[in-house]
Amino acid sequence: MGWSSWNQFGVEINEKLIIETIDAMVSNGMRDAGYIYVNLDDGWQQDKGKRQNKALDYDKEKFPRGITFLSEYAHKNGMKLGIYSGPGETTCAGFSGSLGYEKQDADMFASWNVDHLKYDSCCSHKDASKQELKEIFYKMSKPLIDNPKDIVLHACHCGWEDIWEWAGDIGANHWRIGQDISDDFDYSENREDYYFDVLDMLDRGDGLEEFNKPGQWNDFDMLVVGLNGESKELVGAGASNIEYRAHFSLWSILATPLLTGTDVRNLDAYTLETLTNKEVIALNQDPLGKQAKTVKKTGKIHVLAKPMSDGSWAVAMLNRGSETQKISIDWKQDLGLDWDEVHVRDLWKHKDMGSFSTNYDDEVISHQAVVLRIYPGK
Ligand code: GAL
Repeated sequence: MGWSSWNQFGVEINEKLIIETIDAMVSNGMRDAGYIYVNLDDGWQQDKGKRQNKALDYDKEKFPRGITFLSEYAHKNGMKLGIYSGPGETTCAGFSGSLGYEKQDADMFASWNVDHLKYDSCCSHKDASKQELKEIFYKMSKPLIDNPKDIVLHACHCGWEDIWEWAGDIGANHWRIGQDISDDFDYSENREDYYFDVLDMLDRGDGLEEFNKPGQWNDFDMLVVGLNGESKELVGAGASNIEYRAHFSLWSILATPLLTGTDVRNLDAYTLETLTNKEVIALNQDPLGKQAKTVKKTGKIHVLAKPMSDGSWAVAMLNRGSETQKISIDWKQDLGLDWDEVHVRDLWKHKDMGSFSTNYDDEVISHQAVVLRIYPGK
């Protein structure tokens, strides 16, 4: 869990923004809710274009005191710092990449004491085989593994060549399952023939449950909660509070990285409440690390569920349609649970709803997700 600079700010990042972001996450409760990583995405680098036999360097105007200063600042505040590069001659925004300099860069990131690396291919190597891709990412993964400093590795490759099947084996900790998310809940097409809205991304990850496990995560992309169509970088018209809350509920129950992509210095009360709902976050952070499965999909009704480490189950009842619908979960039929009595808690209402013998239902408004935790017995 953490924050990443890209969705809201694009390459317009600097030391002041990062320090203010850390300060805000400490004071608004996000850090204590679990958002630990503060990740610089593309745009921290000094040079554009092909590497000229030089070490990668940070932009001296944007980051006058350097990256180590920021990692120390993050650590002093109980947080971690992430950085960004890629296996090309240049990154997606045209800055110099790590191709041919992988070990040198890995060692330098470690010497800067960073804790996370997003290593982004920009959907390149379209014709490369799985084997070639494994080698490309392993060139960065190996020196990171060899370095005594622990660095989480995000292998970002648009979900191509079934990356979920092999990225964990070469040492990646999470991998994007698709192209970029757009700031839309349910846009009719793929914007610019490229972007996925929230529901597209949900469907893209359906069926990938077996590849999600502790330390190896399917990454449904950074959250768009709270962007409100105002991102400097992402396309999209924004979504309603209800839709952003549904998006957050889904990413939580899917146990995908929760990387906030919005400006956390100015969050309105509703957005902050969405991002810091500890009962919903607990689904994301559960030690079993299970990605919820679709257990029912009829018309515009979509129900996902997963087992939790304490024996309870988490359930999300999503209404994908434009009319209010009654959605029901039947634990014997839908979840295969032999429970004669079930205690239901609603995680957005923060309320125990009582005990039920066969099923539980609720009126779910358009694009809302009702999130439940169900326990056997009273
Ligand atoms: C894209 C990536 C985005 C962002 C961007 C930076 O390829 O999917 O999440 O990192 O590059 O240029």
